[in-house]
Amino acid sequence: MPGPADRPRWVDDFPIRWDQDNYMTRRELAKFLTLGSGLLAGVNVILAAVGVSRQPPPAPAARIAGVDDVAPGGSLLFRYPTAEDPCILLRDASGAFAAFSQVCTHLSCAVVHHAGADALECPCHKGSFSSRDGRPLGGPPTRRLPRVLVERRGGDLVATGIEV
Ligand code: FES
Repeated sequence: MPGPADRPRWVDDFPIRWDQDNYMTRRELAKFLTLGSGLLAGVNVILAAVGVSRQPPPAPAARIAGVDDVAPGGSLLFRYPTAEDPCILLRDASGAFAAFSQVCTHLSCAVVHHAGADALECPCHKGSFSSRDGRPLGGPPTRRLPRVLVERRGGDLVATGIEV
């Protein structure tokens, strides 16, 4: 039976504590990290595919009002694409129509239109938006109002979608 004098020197320099032998080696750690990263990447691909396939369908066309229901310089409130989405239809002095979401892009107050004005005003923090293209003109909002696409079909104005 070999005694302590017969042991190689590395045994004393690098002693192995067998009670700690269940700790992970570097190779095992690298393998774990590689497999873990691969698993997370795979889950991300699956979630992205599910997200793409669950895109909401485009908003359906819906009649908003008759062409003569809004006087030049006036406005009319409506809901589109659902009853939970307030919108505002504007008619400028030349008779052209534009429609926008009525939800302010700052903190979601309802924007209002004063007859003959060129801007939509938000009373909460004095934000304002262009009534021509919905871009922010003043106050805290930095994003434009979503535009409701409007088509004239005979005597009717029909919403056909939303442009964010
Ligand atoms: S919510 Fe409209 S300006 Fe703040």
